[in-house]
Order: sequence, then structure tokens, then C-alpha cells
Amino acid sequence: MTTAPRNVLITGAGSGIGAAVAAIFAAQGDRVHLLDISESRLESVVASLPEGSAQAHVVDVTDYYGVAGVVESIAAAGSIDVLAGCAGVFDGLAGIEQTSRELWDRVIDINLTGTFNVVKPVAQQMISQGSGSIVLIGSIAASRALPDGLAYDTSKAALEGMTRRLAVDLGRYGINANLVAPGVVETGIRATSEEILGDMVPDTKVGVGTNPDLMKMLIPMQRGGLASEVAATVYFLAGDGAAYISGDVIHVDGGWIAT
Ligand SMILES: NC(=O)c1ccc[n+]([C@@H]2O[C@H](COP(=O)([O-])OP(=O)(O)OC[C@H]3O[C@@H](n4cnc5c(N)ncnc54)[C@H](O)[C@@H]3O)[C@@H](O)[C@H]2O)c1
Repeated sequence: MTTAPRNVLITGAGSGIGAAVAAIFAAQGDRVHLLDISESRLESVVASLPEGSAQAHVVDVTDYYGVAGVVESIAAAGSIDVLAGCAGVFDGLAGIEQTSRELWDRVIDINLTGTFNVVKPVAQQMISQGSGSIVLIGSIAASRALPDGLAYDTSKAALEGMTRRLAVDLGRYGINANLVAPGVVETGIRATSEEILGDMVPDTKVGVGTNPDLMKMLIPMQRGGLASEVAATVYFLAGDGAAYISGDVIHVDGGWIAT
């Protein structure tokens, strides 16, 4: 059985899914290390968690050495048992015509390279421990192109490939790697993406998440998901019950993937 407390590193922990992941692990007695670009969002998440359970790290996931420094500091105090890679930004519905080189670079840099930046030092640490679980957050966008932007779709599809290769590389060390692919989840992603990407994105406010009729049409369960529903799947995949699951993509999307 899993013995608490585990050391859990969560990127994008200042809001939405990452904050919900922090809440579920902290509630179970694990130590959560929260990484986000936003200090103020991190402060409010830390304040919402049991006292002493969380440590905040204000770092941009695109800063390879900054992220490596955080990983090193956590590992120096013990181990990194779980990585939940949640940091990501959304580019509205920007298709090929609306996607500038600048927007492409920024979305790929955060969603894809930013994930590599975290996975690389964490995997090295987990290999030295001979244990660990990596759970990345992808999206239905990897399988259904229309509701998101070109760079976002591409980044999320690439994360599925990264997850499979991580499973191949890390299985022999007793480490599993999986990806949770949410559909529409009610979070602050539109506001935070607008804050981070500025006017590079034509309009982050459009999409399935802001259109109840479209949501009913596309999602068998006819509603958006909750961040806590995604977090519960992350928690399961990082636990003993999922120890023999690796390289998999689990959709938490109200049945959207079936359509
Ligand atoms: N909300 C949805 O409908 C939905 C659907 C599918 C997938 N996802 C994915 O779930 C993940 C979490 O999204 P969310 O909906 O909780 O969004 P959110 O905006 O509520 O939370 C994302 C957090 O990531 C942080 N972040 C963004 N760029 C960062 C960077 N460069 N460095 C460090 N931190 C950074 C933000 O500051 C924010 O606190 C993302 O990867 C997103 O693509 C979300």
C-alpha cells in the first residue's frame, strides 16, 4: 500500500486542475510542492490547503534551469514520488490563419517543452530512487481538433507521444507514466491564458466551454467536468491501484471520446 506522506510536485498548481490535484493529495496527507508562474495564485492555493502541507515555487516551466533547481531542492530533502504536470495555456480557436509564429512558439514552449523541462529532471530523480509516478495532463484536443487552437491541439497530441515513450524508458525502474485527457473543465484557463499570452490569441473566450448548446451536442453527459473529477483520476493513477498501468491515456471527458 502507498504510505503517506509522498512528495508530490504539481505544475500549474495555482489554479484549476493543478489546484484540485494539490487539494486531493494534501487532504490525504501527502506533501505537495506547487509550481506556477503566478505567485498570487499560488498564495491563495497554499492558504486553502492544510497548514504545513504545501510549499510554493514561483517558476515559469519554460525556464529549464529554474525548474531543475526546484526539482533539485525537493529531491535534496527526500524524494519526488509523484509528478502531476498540469501547467498549460489555451489558444482559443486559433487555426492556421490566426496562429502567428509568436503564438505557436509560446504555446509549444509552455505546453510541450515546459513539460519536458519538468519531466527530464524528475525522471532522473525517480530513476535514482527506483520508483515514482508521472501523470501528465493532455486534452481531448489531441483527438478532437475543432474546439481548440492549432498549437494547442499539436502540443496535446505530442504529450500523448511523450507519455508513451516515458513509459517505455521508465518501466524498468518501476516508474509508470500516464496522461489524463480532460474534455471541457470549468477552470480559469481562459483568463490565465489571456494574462500569459496577451493579445497573441485572437479570442480565448470562444469555444465549447462557453457554449452550452455546443457542449450538449458534443458531450454525452451534457456538462463540463469539474477540476476535482480530473484530480481524482490523477490521484488514482499515482497510487498503488494503478501501479501496473503505464503509457496510457485516460479520458475524463463525459464520454466525448466515444463520439
Ligand atoms: N480547462 C479545460 O477545459 C481543460 C481541458 C483539457 C485540458 N486542460 C489542461 O489542463 C491543464 C490545466 O488547465 P486548467 O484548466 O486548470 O487551467 P488554469 O489556467 O486554471 O490553470 C493553469 C495554471 O498553469 C499555470 N501556468 C501557465 N503557464 C505556465 C508557465 N509557463 N509556467 C508555470 N505555470 C504556468 C497558470 O498560471 C495557471 O495557474 C492545462 O494543461 C490544460 O491544457 C484543461
